[in-house]
Amino acid sequence: MKVIRTEAEWKPIWAAIFKEGKQLGFVPTMGALHQGHLDLVAKSTASMDFTVVSIFVNPTQFNSSEDFQKYPQTLEADLAQLDAAGADYVFVPSVTTLYPQPTRLAFDFGDLERVLEGEFRPGHFNGVGLVVAKLFHLIQPTCAFFGQKDLQQVAVIKRLVQDLSFGLSIEVVPTRREKDGLAMSSRNIRLNPEERQQALLLYQQLSLAKERLLAGETWKQIQTDTAAAFSSAANSKLEYFALLHPETFEIFDTFRMDGPQSICIAAFVGQVRLIDNLPIIA
Ligand code: PAF
Repeated sequence: MKVIRTEAEWKPIWAAIFKEGKQLGFVPTMGALHQGHLDLVAKSTASMDFTVVSIFVNPTQFNSSEDFQKYPQTLEADLAQLDAAGADYVFVPSVTTLYPQPTRLAFDFGDLERVLEGEFRPGHFNGVGLVVAKLFHLIQPTCAFFGQKDLQQVAVIKRLVQDLSFGLSIEVVPTRREKDGLAMSSRNIRLNPEERQQALLLYQQLSLAKERLLAGETWKQIQTDTAAAFSSAANSKLEYFALLHPETFEIFDTFRMDGPQSICIAAFVGQVRLIDNLPIIA
């Protein structure tokens, strides 16, 4: 496995891969890797000739400087895991490589970025769009792999790829969960043992809501009960619990049996903000 830090180092490698007509898989990450990331790498190595993983904690997608400062950085451990997982290349650019000058470019993803993560983290998807567009231009992969845990990010990136004609495919890999249901996330490292237990409330409420919806209960009642469960739980604060279309992110007031619907949740457990989602009808 080779670690690449600059565009100049990457270009000849890419040219050789391209010349041989080989398929290049790309897994963009912010490091602090866990099994969820390794699932993306496994998908790529299984279907592509070469796999490149990027590790870059992207400053433009954090709307709180404290969240950026506290984002876990575990480069040595990440590289060891990627080597064992069979990645061929790891791209670890510096901030000045990706942002040689402060960028003024702004995306507008329309309704997709005005709800949920877009509403609670203003500017977040602009930062994601910027860095992912830059990485796609630099890496020029055949296919890029993303986790379903970041469902709204997936929708934004698919829109980006379509609108800017990137000519690459996007593969979405199911959320990897701990045995007790907690969705794997780099942020979980920041939970103390008590918070780690309290964090289970997110998946519990998602699963319960799915069960109740499919049993015919109303979405309004379920939403009210979930808000009450968070209000009475220690150390937890619910930001949103929404039923929506998993691609357009149209928010629904009622559940219907006739089309794709997912529930998305965001909540603070202590100081750590967690998100999760569950498809109700795929
Ligand atoms: O999902 C992430 O880790 C990040 O948002 C991404 C896609 C690597 C962009 O920084």
